[in-house]
Amino acid sequence: MNKKQHILDAAERFARFELEKDSSGHDWWHIYRVTQTAKAIAAVEGANSFVCELAALLHDIPDEKLTGNEQAGLMKVEQWLKEHDVEEETIFHVMDIISSMSFKGGGKPPMRTLEGMVVQDADRLDAIGAVGIARVFAYSGAKDQLIHDPHLPPRENMTAEEYRQGKSTAINHFYEKLFKLKEMMNTAYAKKLATERHEFMDVFIQRFYSEWEGKS
Ligand code: ADP
Ligand code: NI
Repeated sequence: MNKKQHILDAAERFARFELEKDSSGHDWWHIYRVTQTAKAIAAVEGANSFVCELAALLHDIPDEKLTGNEQAGLMKVEQWLKEHDVEEETIFHVMDIISSMSFKGGGKPPMRTLEGMVVQDADRLDAIGAVGIARVFAYSGAKDQLIHDPHLPPRENMTAEEYRQGKSTAINHFYEKLFKLKEMMNTAYAKKLATERHEFMDVFIQRFYSEWEGKS
């Protein structure tokens, strides 16, 4: 087996091990889907497939919700890359992607490379469409949120703190986040995928309101 495939297989085992216990929507199968989508986008957009796949596999390991400390998580990933004899240039590139993606502070920095744009698009695509709908309701159930409350309007211009802590509903989350993601895609192919997934969510929401009122 070639060296790159060897590294990717080891990265997959690392991600599986680290994310196995997660229940915040960043479980191993999220990583699997993001990796598959990143590969598909990379092929169309002409991005470096190895870098995209490696970054996608490792992107959620430093998540604050999992490690409690993003910086420590980033160091853990960097250490892993060094131990697995990944080329220095690739380590730098993958770390640049992962640290930009996990950046939660004020002002979102734009991704610096095509590969970064591809992986960020793939991660965002996993929050919309049929899978995105499933994730919203899974998350809401885990957080004891209602599926819908007509008296609780969607929140606008939230701070990061309000976004994480405040009370909302699954349906509100479509307006607070999911319907905004289509416009945030970096690459043309991801935008095309996002448009299809967005339309599917539109249909879902329309039917939801209709059924809510006892209509067909
Ligand atoms: P990411 O780290 O990828 O930005 P989040 O941690 O914000 O994602 O969310 C993980 C999943 O849970 C996503 O599919 C997202 O849509 C869903 N989710 C996040 N916050 C809420 C919420 N307040 N209500 C319902 N679903 C949510
Ligand atoms: Ni993710």
